Amino acid sequence: MSVPSLQKALFVQERRGPWQISSAAVPSPGPKEVLIRVEAAGLNPVDWKIQKYGVAVDEYPAILGTDCAGVVVEIGEDVTRVKVGDSVLHQGQYLNRGATFQQYTVAHSDLIAKIPHNLSFDQAASVPVALSAAAFGLYGPKVNQGGAALTAPWKKGGRGQYVDQPIVIFGGASSVGQYVIQLAKISGFSPIITTVSPHSNDLVTSLGATHPIDRSLPPSSIHSTITTITAQRPVIAAFDAVCTPETQQTGYDILAPCGTLVLVLHDGVKSKDEGSGKTVISTLASVHCDTNREIGEEFYTHLEGLLESGDVKPNQVEKVEGGLRGVPEAFERMKNNLVSGRKLVVRPQETA
Ligand SMILES: NC(=O)c1ccc[n+]([C@@H]2O[C@H](COP(=O)([O-])OP(=O)(O)OC[C@H]3O[C@@H](n4cnc5c(N)ncnc54)[C@H](OP(=O)(O)O)[C@@H]3O)[C@@H](O)[C@H]2O)c1
Repeated sequence: MSVPSLQKALFVQERRGPWQISSAAVPSPGPKEVLIRVEAAGLNPVDWKIQKYGVAVDEYPAILGTDCAGVVVEIGEDVTRVKVGDSVLHQGQYLNRGATFQQYTVAHSDLIAKIPHNLSFDQAASVPVALSAAAFGLYGPKVNQGGAALTAPWKKGGRGQYVDQPIVIFGGASSVGQYVIQLAKISGFSPIITTVSPHSNDLVTSLGATHPIDRSLPPSSIHSTITTITAQRPVIAAFDAVCTPETQQTGYDILAPCGTLVLVLHDGVKSKDEGSGKTVISTLASVHCDTNREIGEEFYTHLEGLLESGDVKPNQVEKVEGGLRGVPEAFERMKNNLVSGRKLVVRPQETA
């Protein structure tokens, strides 16, 4: 497969600086690495937060984007898991050679999965970051940046282990929330209670939620509705994919003693009952951080099967027009809460 030496990439020029399309060298894969032609890249809220607030990335000009679906075009030494021509998905890194808002990127071969035939590149690009947040948050170790340490469904006895136990998910229509619902279903949880806008009720119930609650209700009403549904069964896990002060507090309050509240942002629970045994974990959906490397590698060996079987369905996707040039405007829509129940994806190869 012929690979050019130059490509187009979307850069943030300097910390909090503007987005700009520029030419960049195509990186070369090292040992255990592969070069991937990026066919679709997912847009995540963290990308616009890095550009707007100047967090998480220190070297500029910087290429962002970490959701990737594409084709292996070159392999480094000691790569046995995939070959040139394979369609794969993976989570990139905030390093210019490993980010995904570019036409070619490099990935570690232990942290990629083949894309099954039932998924398009666009659908596959909705998976890596958001499904990792869901999986690591539920099944990661109970440590900072880990998760609730539930038994993963791919472990012996894990599938259906939590039958008849309630779980509460704040933000069921979000990209992360949709994956949490689906994993909770495979884990056996029931009822699966989630907060959504009513226009997303059908979406979340199709994924496995049993009780959608209108997210615009006052926190006290959301709390009492959850209590009515759970009917005194203990809530051992709640997952907050939204993380407003109100959702965090409600998530904490409805937990059973010794239960775990998983957050996708920093812990902002104001009122805690320190003697209760409740745990609050801010998860980190990075397969590259030490905390999650082990579960990440394990997860990537099961990912193709989870997607192929339909146990986990990708998000509904919307293609961003204009290739990488369309990304800044798409992020404005996300910032202004104008994207509901779907993942925006860009096709870097369409960049003029
Ligand atoms: N910790 C990590 O490593 C990690 C990883 C991934 C994401 N995140 C964070 O997780 C959050 C979600 O990410 P995402 O990609 O899933 O976002 P997203 O899909 O862009 O979220 C948009 C959705 O959130 C819903 N929503 C907004 N406010 C809500 C509320 N108060 N109650 C219920 N639903 C609400 C919206 O519902 P409507 O349809 O009603 O508008 C919309 O469908 C972001 O803050 C992101 O930065 C963290």
